[in-house]
Amino acid sequence: MKQKVLSKPSVKRASKKSSIANEASEPLKNLEGFGDYLQAIIDSLQDELMVIDKDYHIILANNAVLVKHGKQRQEVIGQYCYEISHGRAEICRPPHHECPINAVLETGKPARATHIHVYDVKGKRRERYVDIIASPITDSQGNITAITELMRDVTEAKDMELKIAEAHRELSALNAIATVVSQSLDLDTVLSSALDKTLELMDRNTGGILLWDEEKQILCYRVYHGLSKEHVQRVCCRLGEGIAGKVAQTGEAIQVKDISKEPGTVHPSLVNAEGLRAFASIPLRAKDKVLGVLNVASHKARKFSSEDIRLLGGIAAQIAIAVENAKLHQDVQRKDEIRGELLSEMFSIQEKERRRIARELHDETSQILASLGANLEAAVGMLPPGARKSETILRKTQALSINILDELHRLIYELRPTLLDDIGLVAAIEWLVDNNLRTAGILGNFKPTGRIRRLNPQLETVLFRVTQEAVSNITRHAHAKRVDISLDFKKSLIKVRVRDDGIGFDVKEAISSKDRPRGLGLLGMKERVELVNGTLGIRSRPDGSGTEINIEIPINQEVPSE
Ligand SMILES: Nc1ncnc2c1ncn2[C@@H]1O[C@H](COP(=O)(O)OP(=O)(O)OP(=O)(O)O)[C@@H](O)[C@H]1O
Ligand SMILES: [Mg+2]
Repeated sequence: MKQKVLSKPSVKRASKKSSIANEASEPLKNLEGFGDYLQAIIDSLQDELMVIDKDYHIILANNAVLVKHGKQRQEVIGQYCYEISHGRAEICRPPHHECPINAVLETGKPARATHIHVYDVKGKRRERYVDIIASPITDSQGNITAITELMRDVTEAKDMELKIAEAHRELSALNAIATVVSQSLDLDTVLSSALDKTLELMDRNTGGILLWDEEKQILCYRVYHGLSKEHVQRVCCRLGEGIAGKVAQTGEAIQVKDISKEPGTVHPSLVNAEGLRAFASIPLRAKDKVLGVLNVASHKARKFSSEDIRLLGGIAAQIAIAVENAKLHQDVQRKDEIRGELLSEMFSIQEKERRRIARELHDETSQILASLGANLEAAVGMLPPGARKSETILRKTQALSINILDELHRLIYELRPTLLDDIGLVAAIEWLVDNNLRTAGILGNFKPTGRIRRLNPQLETVLFRVTQEAVSNITRHAHAKRVDISLDFKKSLIKVRVRDDGIGFDVKEAISSKDRPRGLGLLGMKERVELVNGTLGIRSRPDGSGTEINIEIPINQEVPSE
């Protein structure tokens, strides 16, 4: 902007309050007749009003100006406006203030600006925000002859605006942190995105999050930014050691404007090698426990404002909750893994045990029963002719032993169908349909599709056991007439569907039923399927529209067909 050369005006000082015409410069002389009236009007204003000439001299000021500045009229009239309003010897220019008079002179139109004016009343200096409306006064040719400035004190509104802006900054920052920390349950991901966001919001480039290790009783960096690896590895601290250790011990935030001026408070490498100066350390508190510390630093000595520290406190509280959630999640995951391993072990022991019992029943009990039948046959042959009664009894006993043997074979099959091991899942399910459904008078329809092949034995066992439980439930609870079972061998997925036309049931209620030990069948199915990364869906309603069970299991590992 073109700089104006300013000189003090030679304006005649006024002797009386009402003699505006004497005080005013040439352009205002035509207002002479209105002098007293006009003065009364402008003096009645609560807002300050000045008329200023093109060289920035005040040529008229109302009472509000005099009262607020604690000056006499002759101390104001003829002075430069910036001297009176700002106590400065220079015209207003950016970056401090934009002069609205210049804007009026340049555009010929009214201009607005907000300035901080200084009021020096009885040695007490006060700064106030003032909204200025500057308007041109023109002569009959339209030339600007002077400028009026109407000034309203907006300090309270401005303070409120600043408070709202600060609250807005705080809320947006907390919202931004809440968003990043809620995007993951993985501890390191949560911490590093929270730290990045914190540094971005605080406009700092260096910081880190230290977590308290309960076992080792030590506080160490878990994530950091702008610090060297050597420093981070060196500075694990105990409670009470260094700034972070003190913060963790007391649960109170500490901030230092320049750590180089306070030797002994921090590790020397933080000042020397890392070159840090301003430092703030905030506890990560969840409930009554300090889980760690959030450090924010910069290479320039600069005090963190109380707003900054309050905001960091809010951010740290959010991070602490996220840390706690991530830790709980880790715990749950670990427990879930252990539970999965235990279940898998249990199913495998159960299968082994079933196989052992099936073998013993087959090798011992069924052999005994078979020889009992043979002995009975021999005994019948040895009977003397005419011993009809004894023969009838022996034949009945023999038939009974054959029935028991048949039943035993069915039991052995239920326990562990050798078909499953020998010829596979399709044959084993066919056997289930024949032996369980048809014998119960239910029409069983089984359809294997896709590229039928042998699968990993563990997978075959899971598929057989869940189909077996579904079939067993149908025979026991469904009152069905017809059952359709499909087994679809896809390339990398196997699908089983068991559908009956029975009475149906309330799935939610059956699964959440506290009526144990019965009612574990459906849960067992779900557990088995989930252990091999599969899904199980049950569709049923107690309205007679039947039940449909869908199972999908990914096939990762296949065994070659025998
Ligand atoms: N296909 C079906 N049709 C009708 N009701 C069913 C069917 N399958 C399950 N149910 C209902 O769901 C309940 C729970 O089944 P689940 O297999 O979990 O237990 P259960 O068969 O009663 O006992 P368990 O299987 O432990 O010997 C059953 O008691 C039955 O009421
Ligand atoms: Mg059952």
